[in-house]
Amino acid sequence: MSSSPPTAEKAKSDRALRFYQDVLGLERLHYGMWLPEDSLTMDSLKAAQKRYEDFLVESIPDGARRILDVGCGTGELCMNLKAAGYDVEGLSPDINQKRVFAEKVDAPFHFTKFEESQLDGGYDLIIMSESCQYIPIDKVFEVAAKALAPNGHLMVCDYFVLDQDAGELSKSGHDYNDFLAKAESSPFEIVARRDITQDIRKTLEIADDWAGKILLGADILTEKFRSRNPFLWKILKWFGSSKYEKAVSQRVLLDADKFAAVKKYEFFLFKLN
Ligand SMILES: C[S@@+](CC[C@H](N)C(=O)[O-])C[C@H]1O[C@@H](n2cnc3c(N)ncnc32)[C@H](O)[C@@H]1O
Repeated sequence: MSSSPPTAEKAKSDRALRFYQDVLGLERLHYGMWLPEDSLTMDSLKAAQKRYEDFLVESIPDGARRILDVGCGTGELCMNLKAAGYDVEGLSPDINQKRVFAEKVDAPFHFTKFEESQLDGGYDLIIMSESCQYIPIDKVFEVAAKALAPNGHLMVCDYFVLDQDAGELSKSGHDYNDFLAKAESSPFEIVARRDITQDIRKTLEIADDWAGKILLGADILTEKFRSRNPFLWKILKWFGSSKYEKAVSQRVLLDADKFAAVKKYEFFLFKLN
């Protein structure tokens, strides 16, 4: 493990991991796949995340043994793949994920960005679960093709942007048409795909529900203070305005209808020819 002092970025990522795991009790970092009848509860969210992971595992092509999980997050998928008998390796540029992985999975870990990786290659399957969007689009297929064994597979499950003019919502995810064009000009062919945009929407709904409650809670807690100290409240608001405005402008990211209008969350299985 690295002994260098934590940078602000590392500390931020560590806080995010601790929030997911210690506060929310979540072991996984992705949106999950909900059922239409699911209620918006923490247990349903955990079940949705497990359902998504099961779907990825069931989609592993027959005969695949050696698997690289790119952007392996908390190592949960790797741990379960290893338990199922696969020969698995994790990869992430995140030092805190490296630590969590080492505690959880007895398997090789590549501490690097995928696009900068120096892998020996020979993998039967590379999985990018909600991590493809962080890898430069020009490098996704190029680096995967080098790291895979002949006729190997690349599994990508992630969200993509359909409308580049939708403000905050357009900021994360590869452009859908660009991604398909890169795939088309690569040595890969699509052998399976599934649009799961509707299956993930309850994750946004539950997050929006929490955000609403937090804002309402803050409103209730500050009500007395605001009425007794209007001037002081104005000053405090002025100091906190950039953060407050950012939070308000980013709440659109939790709007499930807008997400579905601007983005597509899709599963792809590519085969290397
Ligand atoms: C949203 S998390 C998804 C984690 C996990 N795959 C899952 O489905 O829960 C994104 C992951 O991508 C990783 N990541 C970010 N940039 C990356 C890069 N350039 N190369 C490889 N992984 C990257 C992050 O460290 C993190 O593990």
